[in-house]
Amino acid sequence: MSKQGTMPKVTTMSVRQMKKTGDKITMLTAYDFVTASLMDEAGIDIILVGDSLGMVVMGYESTLPVTMDEMIHHTKAVTRGTKRAMVIGDMPFMSYQVSVEHALTNAGRFMKEAGAHGVKLEGGREMAENVRKIVESGIPVMGHLGLTPQSVHQLGGYRVQGKDKSAARRILDDAKILEQAGAFSLVLECVPASLAKEITSSLTIPTIGIGAGVQCDGQVLVVNDMLGMFDMFTTKFVKRYAELGKEMRRAFSQYIEEVKKEKFPSDAHSF
Ligand code: KIV
Repeated sequence: MSKQGTMPKVTTMSVRQMKKTGDKITMLTAYDFVTASLMDEAGIDIILVGDSLGMVVMGYESTLPVTMDEMIHHTKAVTRGTKRAMVIGDMPFMSYQVSVEHALTNAGRFMKEAGAHGVKLEGGREMAENVRKIVESGIPVMGHLGLTPQSVHQLGGYRVQGKDKSAARRILDDAKILEQAGAFSLVLECVPASLAKEITSSLTIPTIGIGAGVQCDGQVLVVNDMLGMFDMFTTKFVKRYAELGKEMRRAFSQYIEEVKKEKFPSDAHSF
């Protein structure tokens, strides 16, 4: 890897190429400038400003309350921290379902106001027309199938999708429809690894899995989950690469104790 800034930017073309060459695509979520800068320096391919923001940053019980303004605010911070990675803005609940025009306007906001390089939206065949129109206007669209958290109440909870034959068939067909509609990639969330493998080999666009096995063209995790900073619930597909939550608790306790006991600031931290 050469110096930052001299590395070519990740684009829709390069991720398609990565599928062809078998080079795995790496994606993580981020919601702020510092985290995005660190990920970008580490060489992440795609940064998703996920509407998971609602749960892991804002403390909502689901992603449903997240607004366009909140998403724009955080996407702006992430794009400012990014030189190489492709930044995708996640369209929040009810920002693209009402009408094609509404979807187009909101997708445009991610590009114009926040400097995103594309958008993601949840849903299959029922979203095909919206995907087509957004893509026709020049905005790259990432699809999202399987467990679609914005439909949590319809799905009856956060559970694995596509377990029986007809449900699996429907997800596979939806994937092909989204590809036809012009999506440049597809998130597969919480589906059996065998189904994700079949979808991946049936499409020319890359699949990015979360709880969908190793055969996807790439992987995504929510940054707070993989850093051990979100404890409200755990899922099987999350691997913790650090325990920052524990480390933060330790640091906060030590600070409180040292201030109380006048150990901080010491002479070294005073003028
Ligand atoms: O909102 C999000 O973080 C997502 C990922 C889990 C794919 O949609």
